[in-house]
Amino acid sequence: MPRVAPSAQAVPHSRIRELADIAMSMDGVLRLYFGESNVPTPDYIKQAAVRAMAEGYTYYTENAGLPSLRGALAKHYRALHGVQLDPGTEIVITASGVQALNVSIRCLLDPGDEALVLTPAWPNGSAIVALSNAVAVEIPHPLVGERYGIDFDALARAVTPRTRMLLYTSPSNPLGWVAGEEEQRRLLDFCRERGLWLMADEVYERLWYQGAQAEGLRKPAPSILRMATREDAVVVIQSFSKAYCMTGWRIGWLVARRDVAGRAAQLNEFIVSHAPSFTQKAAETALAEGEAELARMLERLRANRDFCRAALREMPGVTVPNPDGAFYLFPRIQGVTDSFEFCRRLLIETKVGLAPGVAFGAGGEGSVRICYAAERAILETAMGRLAAFLMK
Ligand SMILES: Cc1ncc(COP(=O)(O)O)c(C=O)c1O
Repeated sequence: MPRVAPSAQAVPHSRIRELADIAMSMDGVLRLYFGESNVPTPDYIKQAAVRAMAEGYTYYTENAGLPSLRGALAKHYRALHGVQLDPGTEIVITASGVQALNVSIRCLLDPGDEALVLTPAWPNGSAIVALSNAVAVEIPHPLVGERYGIDFDALARAVTPRTRMLLYTSPSNPLGWVAGEEEQRRLLDFCRERGLWLMADEVYERLWYQGAQAEGLRKPAPSILRMATREDAVVVIQSFSKAYCMTGWRIGWLVARRDVAGRAAQLNEFIVSHAPSFTQKAAETALAEGEAELARMLERLRANRDFCRAALREMPGVTVPNPDGAFYLFPRIQGVTDSFEFCRRLLIETKVGLAPGVAFGAGGEGSVRICYAAERAILETAMGRLAAFLMK
């Protein structure tokens, strides 16, 4: 009897999805388990997609994406990071951040290779490594006082002759941690010294609260591209999902050394060919016109973060470090040793849906992830129910 390939069966399932599947079979759940807000895509972006369809952006495009969108992204990097990129050879448009991770990891790993992954992290990075028949070696971020750090000794100990790359996420999902310049410098040096690829998942780049305070809510979290040269073995993963409320559109990009970018564009042909044409056009409009909306969203997110963090700090047995970016809180709850079961019970008894910390790999158990991108009224009800649940 033919069977599903064991290597496909070995890819772990997402425990966030597992929880979500239970929640989706229920009515009236406060859904804080996914990484998205319930705010719809802004109208100016939807209108741009309609216009693009009317203008004929309904045909195949280049595997690397429309030159006009790549050009707009190069301009974005010049303006926001002071980084010069060649849109013809160093930027590839993808059908989402997940697909950017997929195609670039496929370009870097052979079966049996190893990837170091800083965790707790969004599980898809490690799962995609497994999908490439390679091995993810998870190294937890240690919590030092109020802030997460990087355990460089543990990273050094984990390197073997099969290690090919290091993946980190900044701003982090689920921690909200943002790599400082010194940490970026050390990560880059670490990889340069050992001949490893450094992959930075920067999909939350625009959701950075320190930048928000300093510069009228606009400054992005520093990209590794500022520090790296274009000859460095560096790949950046990006997406329109988070900054522009475009999760369902499936559009992202990657920036990489030109050999990898070229190969990723070529492999795109066999994976998705390219991101949808009219979506690419709408993404161009998001980049060009999105700043004011983004500023408003950041202000709202920051207020939500402060509200939820203050509420959590009042709850018995809960500790929650200060996140600098993204839209998550990752509180540790004293006595919780099975975060999936905790979230399942919370869901069934109170209809509050959170993501279990165990879903985020090494270092995640004992915590839960709260996405605070929802409306304030939903967050207020959810925090109230969580507090009552913990009091019981
Ligand atoms: C860290 C991280 N990277 C990448 C993605 C992928 O985003 P998308 O595939 O929607 O572009 C997400 C989405 O939650 C994420 O949290």
